[in-house]
Amino acid sequence: MIKKIKGFSDIFPPEIYKYLQMEEEARRIFPLYGFQEIRLPLLEKTEVFARSIGDETDIVQKEMFTFTDRKGRSLSLRPEATAGVVRAYIENRIYTREKLSKFFTLGPMFRYERPQQGRQRQFHQINVEAFGSTSPYLDAEIICMLWEFLGKLKLPHISLEINSLGCEKCRPSFIKALKRFLGNIDKDELCEDCLKRREKNPLRALDCKREGCQALYLQAPCLHDFLCEDCRSHFELTLSLLEQRHIPYKLNKKLVRGLDYYQKTTFEVLSGDIGAQSAIAGGGRYDGLVRLLGGPDVPGIGFACGMERISLLMEDPSPSPPLCYLAPLEEKGLEATYHILSLLRGRGISCISTYEVKSIKAHLRAANKIGSRYVLILGEEELRENKITIRDLTLSRQDTIAMRDIHITEFKE
Ligand code: HAM
Repeated sequence: MIKKIKGFSDIFPPEIYKYLQMEEEARRIFPLYGFQEIRLPLLEKTEVFARSIGDETDIVQKEMFTFTDRKGRSLSLRPEATAGVVRAYIENRIYTREKLSKFFTLGPMFRYERPQQGRQRQFHQINVEAFGSTSPYLDAEIICMLWEFLGKLKLPHISLEINSLGCEKCRPSFIKALKRFLGNIDKDELCEDCLKRREKNPLRALDCKREGCQALYLQAPCLHDFLCEDCRSHFELTLSLLEQRHIPYKLNKKLVRGLDYYQKTTFEVLSGDIGAQSAIAGGGRYDGLVRLLGGPDVPGIGFACGMERISLLMEDPSPSPPLCYLAPLEEKGLEATYHILSLLRGRGISCISTYEVKSIKAHLRAANKIGSRYVLILGEEELRENKITIRDLTLSRQDTIAMRDIHITEFKE
């Protein structure tokens, strides 16, 4: 038997219905805020990710599925969607068409992480990106939209954490202070990665996954304390707008996120109910990213929800079996079965048949197992008289009607 790759999963019913519900809510709610759906490639040139997410991040250093194609180019399966959306935004010159662009996209992402509950190597995200506005009103609006979306999925015990990561103006003085702090730590106490990070990208040390390093960083300087006036007022207005819409948030001055492109507002939604991998969504502003990837100076902000983690929190969906089960008791009833199924489906009624001739008892057992409410019986007598017997398993009632009346027969869910 050939088995699937480690960290990849098959999603069957009833689990898949949770994914469909998430997608349905996204497609209903996001357009209310002006977001339009897009589909982008799963595979990009590796530099799209290396340049945007950052060379020194865990994602780029250790977690990408990267390979060389037949022409010797380095390609990677997307570990997240933002970099590709920005690439596509620039390449399609969307900024020449409109001042404000709002997109969302759904689909699989790939990260070579150690699989555990809520952490897969192929996972799915619902991803939202908005380009063209630096307004804190947009920050607040996007967070409200995320909160509304998660609210519709009725997720228990979730909390929103928020921070500001400053901008190109104020971050350098923080990095200087952080470098000084990291420089004072004995090099034997730091992991190999953090030793490199303190030289190349000190901010990334702060999201090191090793507990030993995290313990050392408890006293590290906070970016939040270095914010410039512009970043501070942007953040304060964002928080006040969230309060006005009664969105509960927790200020987390240590929140740095794992990707390099963030500036100013950053946020995560966490759950206490799904173990160590507790972030169900994360996002923030990335005002310098479009320029960094060769586009004009257009600001951006967005978030992504992890569908696997959200599905762990969703209630089991109620099953929706086919409403009618067709039960031919005779070989010559098969053709009628085939046509009646088509007729019912034409009326929008879900129905199935196994196209097996068996006893009424065996059919009823099968229909019960599937969960269909109605069993449509085609026995010898029915076929002779051009009739059909309809048994309602919920009300334990049955009626025999003329075959032609099947057009108008009511079937209740
Ligand atoms: P992220 O925080 O790396 O952000 O991922 C967003 C969400 O994807 C996480 O909160 C988590 O729920 C889910 N996730 C990440 N890795 C895994 C995994 N290995 N298995 C299962 N779920 C996972 C981003 O990806 C940014 N691009 C978000 C963004 C959009 N920022 C601005 N725009």
